[in-house]
Amino acid sequence: MIALTAARLSGQAPLGVNGLRVEYLSNPVGIDVSRPRFSWRIASDTRNTEQIAYQVQVGLSPSTIGRGSGLLWDSGRIASDASVFVEYAGPALASRTQYYWRVRVWDSNTRASSWSPVAYWETGLTQPGDWTAHWIGPASTPADSLPAPSPLLRRTFQVKSPVASARAYVTSLGLYELHLNGARVGDQLFTPGWTSYNRRLQYQTYDVTALLHPGANAVGAMLGDGWYRGYLGFFGQRNIYGRRLALRLQIDIHYQNGTSERITTDSAWKTAPGPVLASDIYGGESYDARKERAGWAAPGFDDHDWSLVSMLGPPATTLVASTSPPVRRVRTLHPIEVRRLSSGETLFDLGQNFTGWARLVVQGPAGTTITLRYAEVLDRTGDLYTANLRRAGQTDRYTLKGEGEERYEPHFTFHGFRYVAVAGLPGPADTTTITGIAVSSDLAQTGTFETSDSLLNQLQRNIIWGERSNFLDVPTDCPQRDERLGWTGDAQVFSRTAAFNMDVAGFFAKWLADLAADQDSSGIVPWVIPNLFSDSVHFGGTAGWSDAAVIIPWTMYLVYGDRGLLERQYPSMRAWVDYMHRRAGTDLIWRPGWQFGDWLALHSDDPSYPGATTSTDLIATAYLAHSTDLVARAAAVLGKVDEAGRYRSRFRAIRAAFDREFVSGAGRVGENTQTAYALAIAFGLLPDSIVSAAGNRLAGDVQARDVHLTTGFLGTPVLLHTLSGTNHLPLAFALLTQRSYPSWLYPITRGATTMWERWDGIRPDGSFEDAGMNSFNHYAFGAVGDWMYRTIGGIDLDSTAAGYQRSRIAPRVGAGLTGARASLETSYGTLASVWSVAGGQFILDVTIPVNTSSTVTLWGTRVDRVQESGRPVRAGIGIRDVQQRGNDVVVVVGSGQYHFSSPATP
Ligand code: BGC
Repeated sequence: MIALTAARLSGQAPLGVNGLRVEYLSNPVGIDVSRPRFSWRIASDTRNTEQIAYQVQVGLSPSTIGRGSGLLWDSGRIASDASVFVEYAGPALASRTQYYWRVRVWDSNTRASSWSPVAYWETGLTQPGDWTAHWIGPASTPADSLPAPSPLLRRTFQVKSPVASARAYVTSLGLYELHLNGARVGDQLFTPGWTSYNRRLQYQTYDVTALLHPGANAVGAMLGDGWYRGYLGFFGQRNIYGRRLALRLQIDIHYQNGTSERITTDSAWKTAPGPVLASDIYGGESYDARKERAGWAAPGFDDHDWSLVSMLGPPATTLVASTSPPVRRVRTLHPIEVRRLSSGETLFDLGQNFTGWARLVVQGPAGTTITLRYAEVLDRTGDLYTANLRRAGQTDRYTLKGEGEERYEPHFTFHGFRYVAVAGLPGPADTTTITGIAVSSDLAQTGTFETSDSLLNQLQRNIIWGERSNFLDVPTDCPQRDERLGWTGDAQVFSRTAAFNMDVAGFFAKWLADLAADQDSSGIVPWVIPNLFSDSVHFGGTAGWSDAAVIIPWTMYLVYGDRGLLERQYPSMRAWVDYMHRRAGTDLIWRPGWQFGDWLALHSDDPSYPGATTSTDLIATAYLAHSTDLVARAAAVLGKVDEAGRYRSRFRAIRAAFDREFVSGAGRVGENTQTAYALAIAFGLLPDSIVSAAGNRLAGDVQARDVHLTTGFLGTPVLLHTLSGTNHLPLAFALLTQRSYPSWLYPITRGATTMWERWDGIRPDGSFEDAGMNSFNHYAFGAVGDWMYRTIGGIDLDSTAAGYQRSRIAPRVGAGLTGARASLETSYGTLASVWSVAGGQFILDVTIPVNTSSTVTLWGTRVDRVQESGRPVRAGIGIRDVQQRGNDVVVVVGSGQYHFSSPATP
């Protein structure tokens, strides 16, 4: 009893439940899942707490649920340790209805929690007849397919009596901004988001209760071209999804007197061009403030000279509720330098490369036009460097109305930049003239990683900024040039790192739905999702890229325990793997012809790096094997025993074929490139007997290049894992901390604040790489973040208990680091590892979430030398098991905090 008290953490309720979520969000409004899944977190003041049972109650009002009576569904006490993605199993849910829920748990120490606070979710328009609004837009003109001023649409309506609640359901062809009674509704940007529009079009649900009032009201929307009909893709196409912008909206008003009413888009709406003269994702926006129509979205505005809207036939698509975190303004940045350029423009340096725009604050005469040009880097003369933007204009133009201080932010465009060159300013500029506004999918940051090495910390910051800049509703390759597309390969290699840094569960669930929607009937996955290349046969089916279909759902399952997503994606995963099988020869080698291969690897045409090209046959066969392996694992998780067996034996057969074709008995793989070894080892394709020889050859190549890498998009993510996994940990550390080109830290020595697309975006001599492909904000090489978290921070999952229900903590010391800290908000709570080496002691503090356990490894020590919380380590008080395994000590712990120390190994 005394010991138990000593292990108590102060200040907490003994056992509590919090962090309630439905699907991927807390208290979501407008979701259309028929059996939503509940997740919760448990807080406990003692170590080693596990849930042994739970009870969920669902009701139609907070008060009935508070009394526990009149419930819609009561799970009763369910003996289970499940606290993540627990499925609702009550009666069918109604459309447009708010449901309240609460949960309580029982733990392994025979305690019961009190009920959690009540949370809710609200269903969207789940029945086919729920949408009654028409599609409306400006009348069709011959110029529909050309850039044009953004239309404003409006109508007034009467609210007859006090409002109890009101919801607006909104979607559009093109982008929309919604206004009610003069106020912007919500803070979401780029709605309705980017999906495979012709198959899945999202709508948003807004609680607009507070924006309505009895009497005259007005609703307005501004539409922009966006991805729907603006320029998109590097072939300069427009109108990929359609030619006409349109809006569909309905506002359901529930009066306090029990009646209700619906306002919809219909023939009563009017339209006129607004002040956005032109807007385009790549090109930027032109805005003439003199053309603003003050009060246009408020009642009382005179719209007699506006045109009537026209009705459009419904587009052939399915409307779906959006459930991934929306895009929002997520950061503001202030200039660190303001100076004049020889062109006369004023240059603002925001100190950080990012995605978004500049907010302009200016005063001057009406009609003055200010031009803002955006770029990521400066050239050697200190001027804006824009050649790498290719055809993306990245230019905003603002024309003043001349009415005192004016503030401007663009509406339907974004830029990738650090520098802004501003022309036409009517007065002197200072650091308040512009402010950088960073926009991104508003994903919760879940990971932290920090070490005693400032360059590694900068690398981590650059990876985070790469993710923030490119996770803008879809995972894009880059945010600046005429691309910004959902490149599958980039997303695939980065997905695990992404899931350390941020909560990407809902984000990827959305994108994977588009991936499955865009996959063709033969299983081919397009290069980019949403797909914008019409002939998918020629723009898809590529090893390492299309494998996103398999690798990302599997990763999301491992990281979040999202079995439902795995189930949903399984047909898509299988279809891709089956496609590859059909393409492979009878010898099970896939020889696909031209492929991206190990994209942007150091090629053999670089005389200083001979032999770094890995054949596409080897890469394609390696991915065929790996994705087959993952489908077998997914089938096993989903209880598809026969299929699991079939894919498992296929995997073995491909592995044998790979070894016959590419591997020598002495451990040589393919062309002897780093990537060939890294893929073969990481994907488990080599006979056990030669893994170590292959690892030595890989290490030998790295050493022969004076500790430098040669890998591209596909080899880089697994390079350090394979080195450290084959007994070359010091070399992996040396490679990570290498500063000279090519290396992860080289760009940082050149001032990089984001990940570069190429190892030598700016060459050692200061010149730029080929402007045709030289992004300074591409996250792919940032996939090394995964190794940093797992190896230096030492936190990892156990794939046999997905979602970190079982974790591993095994931090490694190297490269002269004296300490590191890593933490991750898992679905169960905070998992953390903090270590330091000081005074001859290795100190490790770990935090393990409630309802999980962890295997902690202390390398190179003996049980009798390890202490926990100042006492010799032994089983008891949360410590379930202690073992000496060779030179290492392995301790299995339950939830709680533990403080280990051991003499440091020299
Ligand atoms: C993109 C990449 C992408 C690649 C395909 C590029 O233009 O920026 O990141 O994966 O094409 O090789």
